[in-house]
Amino acid sequence: MDYLSFLVCLLLAWLAIHLLLSTTKASGSVPKQLPPGPPPLPIVGNLLSLGTKPHVSMAEFTKTYGPIMILRLGQLPTVVISSASMAKEAVQRHDLSFSDRTITDAFRAFDHHLNSIVWLPPAAQWRNLRKICNSHVFSNSRLECSQNLRRNKVKDLISYIRKSSEAGTAVDIGQAAFTTTLNLLSSTFFSMDLGDPSSEIAREFRHLVRGLLEEGGKPNLSNYFPMLRWLDPQGIRRRTGVHFKKMIDLFNTIIDQRMQGRKPTNSMQDNDVLDALLGINQEKTADIDPSKIPHLLLDLFTAGTDTTSSTLEWAMAELLHNPEKLKKAQAEIEQIVGRTKPVEESDIPRLPYLQAVIKETFRLHPAVPFNFRRSDSDVNLCGFTVPKNAQVLMNFWAIGRDPEFWDNPNLFKPERFLGSEIDVKGRDFELIPFGAGRRICPGLPLAIRMLHLMLGSLIHEFNWKLEEGISPATMDMEEKFGFTLEKSQRLRAIPVPP
Ligand code: HEM
Repeated sequence: MDYLSFLVCLLLAWLAIHLLLSTTKASGSVPKQLPPGPPPLPIVGNLLSLGTKPHVSMAEFTKTYGPIMILRLGQLPTVVISSASMAKEAVQRHDLSFSDRTITDAFRAFDHHLNSIVWLPPAAQWRNLRKICNSHVFSNSRLECSQNLRRNKVKDLISYIRKSSEAGTAVDIGQAAFTTTLNLLSSTFFSMDLGDPSSEIAREFRHLVRGLLEEGGKPNLSNYFPMLRWLDPQGIRRRTGVHFKKMIDLFNTIIDQRMQGRKPTNSMQDNDVLDALLGINQEKTADIDPSKIPHLLLDLFTAGTDTTSSTLEWAMAELLHNPEKLKKAQAEIEQIVGRTKPVEESDIPRLPYLQAVIKETFRLHPAVPFNFRRSDSDVNLCGFTVPKNAQVLMNFWAIGRDPEFWDNPNLFKPERFLGSEIDVKGRDFELIPFGAGRRICPGLPLAIRMLHLMLGSLIHEFNWKLEEGISPATMDMEEKFGFTLEKSQRLRAIPVPP
C-alpha cells in the first residue's frame, strides 16, 4: 500500500469512527419529533441531492416533506424553513434561540469570525457592533448627510454609460452596478472612490472583494465535516486568509491616513462614517477597539456590494425581459420627477411603481437565497423539534415563490405590490429578502436608497435595448447559486438616448 492510499484509508477510518461516535452521542439526545426529510445516504447524508441550485432543490423537497424539513449535510443537521408562517413562528417566538449562525469555515480565516458582526454570537460584542451600525453608519441622519456623495457617484455612472450610448456599445450591467455600489459604499463610509477603475488601490480592492465572495460561496467540505476543518482540504480558508489580510492592511492604511488628519481631497463631508467610528474612541460614547474597525468595514463591504449590485442587475434584466413594465416605470418617473431633472433619493417615496419593481425583484431573486442561523438549544417549532446546534435555514427564495400565497408566483408582476402594504422590512414574512428579527440586515436603509437611486437613474436617463440577436423573450434568465444568487449569464444591454 503506497503512502497516499494509506492516508486515504486512515482518513476514511477516522471519518467512520467520528460518524459512529456522533450518531451514538446524538441518539441519546435526539428528540423524537424531528421534522420530516429525505432519507440521508451514509456519510454524505443529503449533500448529493442538493445539486447546483440548493435553494431550488430544497423548494422541491417541500412538496413531499412540507414547510419544515431536516436534511443531513454531511455531518451537519440542517433544518429548512420554507413558508412565511413557519418563518414568522421561528422569528416571533424563538428569535433568540435562532440568533446565532453556523460559521462558514472560510470566515474563520484571520480569526475574522471572532471580530465580525456577521458571525459573532448574539452577545455583548455583537450587540455593541449593531448599536454602532444603527447609530453611526446607517442612521437616517447619517444617510441624509451623505446623499450628496451618492448623487455624485450616480452621476459618474451615468457619464460612463453615456460614453457607451454614444459609441452604441453594450454595458455589462452587473459590472457597472458593482463598481458603482463599491463607490457608493466607500464614499458613504470614508469619502473615497474605491471603485474608480483608474486607481491602483481601487483595482486591488475590487479584486479582493470579488475573491472573498468567490471563496466564501464555494461548497466547502470543512463546513459539512467539521473534523476535516484542520485540514482545510480545498485550501479555501487559506486563500480567504490571504484576501482578509490584504483587505485589513488596506483599511488600516486608510485609517492611519485619517488619524494623521489626511482626508481625501475630494471629500465633501466634514464628518463621515470613518470619522464617526474613530471619534467613538475619543468620545467614549460607545466602545469599539480601533483594531476591530477594519473587521467591521470588511463585513460591510463584503455583505453590501454583491447583494446590492446583483439585485440591480436582476431588476434591469426583468425590465428588459418585460419591456411594457420598463415603459411603465419610465413613464412614472417622467411624470413625477420631470424629463430633465435627475432622480434623487428624496423622490423615492413618490415613485410607487419603481418601489414595486424593486420589491418584485426581491421576491423572485432574493440576493441571499437563505440566511444561515443555528439553534442554541432544542426548540419546539410548530410541534417539531429543531435540535440543538442544527443549522437553520430560511429559504427566502421558496417563500417568495410559494403558490399558497403568491398568485402566478413565477411571473414578474410589480403591480401585485401596488396598493399593498407588504414591505421588505422584516414584518411581512412573505417577503423577507433582508431577513427578520434581531439579526435582520443592518444595511437595509442604505441598500434601499442605493437600489432605487441607481435603477431610477438608469431607466430615466436612457432607453435600453438588448444586443443583436437577443430578444426579450429569448434572453437568459437563469440563476447561479453562490454567496449571492447571481445571474448565470451577465446582463449586457445597449443604452440609447431617450
Ligand atoms: C440588496 C441588498 C442586500 C440584501 C438583500 C441583504 C440581505 C441580508 C440578509 C438576508 C442578511 C441575513 C439576515 C438574517 O440572518 O436574518 C444580511 C445580513 C447582513 N447584511 Fe445585508 N443585505 C443587503 C445589503 C447590505 C448592505 C448594503 C450592507 C452594508 C453596507 C449589509 C450588511 C449586512 C450585515 C453586516 C449583515 C450581518 C448582520 C448580523 O449578523 O447581525 N447588507 N443581509
